[in-house]
Amino acid sequence: MANVQIGDCCSLNPLELYEQVTAQGEKVRALKTEKAPKDEIDDAVKLLLSLKLSYKTSTGQEYKAGSPPTDFTPVSNGPGSTEDDDFVDPWTVQTSNAKGVDYDKLIVRFGSSKIDKDLINRIERVTGHKPHHFLRRGIFFSHRDMNQILDAYENKKPFYLYTGRGPSSEAMHVGHLIPFIFTKWLQEVFNVPLVIQLTDDEKYLWKDLTVEKAYQYAIENVKDIIACGFDVNKTFIFSDLHYLGQSPEFYKNIVKIQKHVTFNQVKGIFGFTDSDCIGKISFPAIQAAPSFSTSFPHIFNSKKDIQCLIPCAIDQDPYFRMTRDVAPRIGYPKPALLHSIFFPALQGAQTKMSASDPNSSIFLTDTPKQIKTKINKHAFSGGKDTVEEHRKYGGNCDVDVSYMYLTFFLEDDDKLEQIKQAYTSGALLTGELKKTLIETLQPMIATHQQRRKQITEEMVKEFMTPRKLAFDF
Ligand code: TRP
Repeated sequence: MANVQIGDCCSLNPLELYEQVTAQGEKVRALKTEKAPKDEIDDAVKLLLSLKLSYKTSTGQEYKAGSPPTDFTPVSNGPGSTEDDDFVDPWTVQTSNAKGVDYDKLIVRFGSSKIDKDLINRIERVTGHKPHHFLRRGIFFSHRDMNQILDAYENKKPFYLYTGRGPSSEAMHVGHLIPFIFTKWLQEVFNVPLVIQLTDDEKYLWKDLTVEKAYQYAIENVKDIIACGFDVNKTFIFSDLHYLGQSPEFYKNIVKIQKHVTFNQVKGIFGFTDSDCIGKISFPAIQAAPSFSTSFPHIFNSKKDIQCLIPCAIDQDPYFRMTRDVAPRIGYPKPALLHSIFFPALQGAQTKMSASDPNSSIFLTDTPKQIKTKINKHAFSGGKDTVEEHRKYGGNCDVDVSYMYLTFFLEDDDKLEQIKQAYTSGALLTGELKKTLIETLQPMIATHQQRRKQITEEMVKEFMTPRKLAFDF
């Protein structure tokens, strides 16, 4: 790579800058190894520091070796994404809009389909169950091939569910429960097998964690997942670090996928660069493989044509676009998908939740008092500054985080509608809205904590043992 002079860098985009810093870092290391003259090394270090500074100014982030600026890489967001568009990939969700990401645009960009009234009605007709409020309220808003799954179900053809979690820390927050709450409902209404992947390998590769720690987080997260109420006779939960060594069939599928995806393809889909470790580059095959029934011979009796339905947050779609592309080439059906919107941080739908900031969400370990304080102190409000103004102009539910959380967790449609009207008109004040949320979350979390306490090591082991489930294939 050509030497850049200070000043040149400012016309570079963040990814180019990142590559310049990486290259300059390598140069400094080489000079030191060669024992080059001190002033030459000093000059190279100076340039490195100034490049790092430009990188920080341009991206707002510290340069970190091995972590390219994913927010800016021209990945899955495809052609037509402009500067003020939202950015969504498995590691970054970015929007400048307080209402959150524009999901209709995302459907167009990702090429998925909207979950419309017709599909929701069909789900109701086919299952005989009232659609879950996540469907009725557009929380699961996009899909791929859901009609195929319903056709299969009507024709008594089996399918199975697959979802997962990246165990990046011991603490899970309420947002992490969304896919599991919904998956549990799907499992109940369709009565199908479910596999849950814990990608402890992924978190080891992407985070500053030891493999032991990542596995330990996986086990702790499994307890929270089991506490959602899954049926042990119908559910298999596995950690990648463990199951890969137990299942040759799983590994065979991983290798088949790896043979059919090039480095260029994953660069295009995930924004990997030449300096990413090869573990990251090959990881997508590991998240793809559970979409194929032969990865679980004990459950599916080695049948290869059982279709898979994956409920997940929309940021996971890149993995499954890749999976759907590979599937027919290795003789498997394409998985179908149901996509959810993101769960907003307490500070607002345009900010990202982070497990390291305890105030950015409500954690499953929070006490009733912590829940109350966090909501009162940190939940971004769409209310007006003074009571007089609020009464006069009303609040804005579109940006109000307490209201958004109620759409996730308050099941009573009538009550939710009343709250919306009263808040919008100004009759209901922010403090009153927050009180309703506090009173909804406190018992919900307390119940979760009680259930989690009852999960024993034996139960974890049973869920995580490869075995036949209550279905004959
Ligand atoms: N990569 C996901 C995460 O970081 C975890 C995951 C693995 C997953 N397989 C999945 C999520 C299937 C949804 C569906 O959270």
